[in-house]
Formats: sequence, C-alpha cells, structure tokens
Amino acid sequence: MQIITFMNCQKMILVTGACGQIGTELVKALRDKHGNQNVIATDIRDVTDTSDGPYFRLDVLDRGELQKLVSELNITHIYHLAAVLSANGEKNPIGAWDLNMQSLLNVLEVARIENLQQVFWPSSIAVFGPESPKELCGQYALTEPTTVYGISKAAGEHWCRYYHQQYGLDVRSLRYPGLISHSAQAGGGTTDYAVDIFHQAVNKGSYACYLKDDTRLPMLYMPDAVRATLELMDAPAEQLTIRSSYNLAGISFTPEQLAIGINAHLPDFTISYQPDKRQAIADSWPASIDDKQAAKDWGWAPAYDLQDMIADMLLHLDTHAHENFA
Ligand SMILES: NC(=O)c1ccc[n+]([C@@H]2O[C@H](COP(=O)([O-])OP(=O)(O)OC[C@H]3O[C@@H](n4cnc5c(N)ncnc54)[C@H](O)[C@@H]3O)[C@@H](O)[C@H]2O)c1
Repeated sequence: MQIITFMNCQKMILVTGACGQIGTELVKALRDKHGNQNVIATDIRDVTDTSDGPYFRLDVLDRGELQKLVSELNITHIYHLAAVLSANGEKNPIGAWDLNMQSLLNVLEVARIENLQQVFWPSSIAVFGPESPKELCGQYALTEPTTVYGISKAAGEHWCRYYHQQYGLDVRSLRYPGLISHSAQAGGGTTDYAVDIFHQAVNKGSYACYLKDDTRLPMLYMPDAVRATLELMDAPAEQLTIRSSYNLAGISFTPEQLAIGINAHLPDFTISYQPDKRQAIADSWPASIDDKQAAKDWGWAPAYDLQDMIADMLLHLDTHAHENFA
C-alpha cells in the first residue's frame, strides 16, 4: 500500500526542446529537485552524452512518438520548450507556425488523453505589439503581435486556457522576456544580443550590436527564469488566476547600458551598432513589463538586477579572458 502511494506521488517529467537555451538549465534544475532518473530530456537533436540522466531523441511534431514515450515512461508532467524563436521565425513564417502550434497541440492532446498532472509551456513578451503600452505593459494589455512567433504565442495562450477550462488540464505558462544565460547559446530570438555580447566581450573585446544603442527591452537572468518556472509549477492551483500566461519581468535595459555595465569589468571592451531586421521586431515590443499579478498570485520577485547579472555572467564565462581585458 505504501509503495503504491509513493508511486502515485512520484513525478516523471518529460522536457521537450531540452537541448536549447532554457532546456539546458531547466533540466539541470529539475534533476536536482526530482532526481536525475525522473527527468527525461528530449530534443530533435542527437545527443550521445547521457551521463546526467535519460535522453530520447523526439520530434515533438510526431504525436504518436510523443504519446508512446509518455505512456511507456509513465510521464506525469511535460515541460514543452521546443519552438522556433522570433528572429528565426521570420525567416520561415509557415514553418515557425507549424512547429510552434502543432507541437503545442500535440502536447496538450497527449496530456489530456494520458491524464497528465501538469504541463508547462512558455509564452513570450512577443505576444505584445506596437499598440501595447511601451512602459509597464500590463497582464491584460492589447496583444496584437507583428511577428509569426508572437502570433503563435498569443494563439498558444488561448489554447492553454481552453484546455484548462474545457478539460481541467493543469497547464501553466509564463511570458518570458529575453533570457540571458552562459551555459548555452541563444536560440535565434531578437534579444540574443544580450547573450552574444558577453561571449564576444570575453573572446574578442568588441561587439557589433544588431540593435540601436537605446533599444530598451525586458530581460531576465536565467537563474531567475528557472526559479520562476519552478515556483509557478509548485504554486497551489487555487492561487492561480491566469491560465493563459503570466507576465514576467526582471530587468529592462538598452544595449548601451549593458555595454557600460560590461565596461566596468572590462574597460577595453567596445561596442558598435549595426541595426538589422531585428530592430523592427524589437521596436514592436514593450520596453518594460508589469508582472504584479505573478507577484500577487504566487509571490514572484526577481533576484538579479543589471549589475548582479553582468558580474555573474562574466564570472561564469571566462575568468581568464576577463582578467586579460581588465
Ligand atoms: N530564450 C528566450 O529568450 C525566450 C524568451 C521567451 C520565450 N522563450 C520560449 O522558451 C522556449 C525555449 O526557448 P529556448 O530559448 O530554449 O529555445 P532554443 O531555440 O534555444 O531551443 C529550442 C530547442 O527545441 C528543439 N527543437 C526544434 N524543433 C524541434 C522538434 N520538432 N522536436 C523537438 N525539439 C525541437 C531545438 O533543437 C532546440 O534545442 C520556447 O518556447 C521559446 O519560445 C524563450
């Protein structure tokens, strides 16, 4: 009897898109929390090193394969991260729509059919558009995105709420801002510069930024993003008032402010500005986000400010190169 109770409480977690910028960090955090064997990493990429825990190659567009894995491995939770991001999405709009929408529908359907306990799916501040407020853009602000990525995220939010309302599926979501991390490269979004700049600063001492110096965008440091995800998933269901996706904020800054902050550590670092197509996407997004609903419902508060984030990024990236330029 005791064993059965234990088995029922055991979480078996499947992560899609696990090799990406977020998956790399989230899988580690989930394994620390739930045990390596209870977190199944999956991605369309071939991975040979599985020493940290189970890995399966899975194209999440193959619903039959997804359902088979979920059923055979007794999966209880899915974190669905596979997607095409904003800048890459514009290169192949129909492909981006197909992947982002069909994969979400596959996950929601499998979760419904297999009676899963929880699903996590990230939305994005890209659901907002030029008509949304620029400053402290609110939870219920107008969402009229101009990118196919934003359109797919806005539609995805409606689907998540629909599955919750119609089928009682416990699907939870965050509108991540641009995420900054040192473990994996950024995956083709408009805010990638805020990751690339650190690598170039450490390796080359200079960076050519594809956004204008004064382009202020909402960002979040990865440890905060991972913690937000775990906290949202742990929150009592009755406290959650948003079943589309929660606004989430951390730090808003411009490329110029980021460069000045890096200069405090690497005085020889230089930045130049060569705006490209991504500038139009950035211009369509809010500069800052109001996330008070997340604070109210499940106690969200970011820990890292701009200076803390810069110091931590440089510390992790390359202390030696850091010293050479300092
Ligand atoms: N990184 C950010 O700044 C950011 C901001 C807002 C929202 N998000 C969202 O968070 C999620 C994860 O983002 P990320 O930055 O880790 O993306 P990423 O591009 O770094 O990783 C996506 C992963 O999905 C995998 N993938 C692609 N097609 C697949 C398929 N058919 N089947 C299985 N896997 C497939 C890729 O191989 C890749 O490893 C996405 O939904 C993204 O929209 C990210």
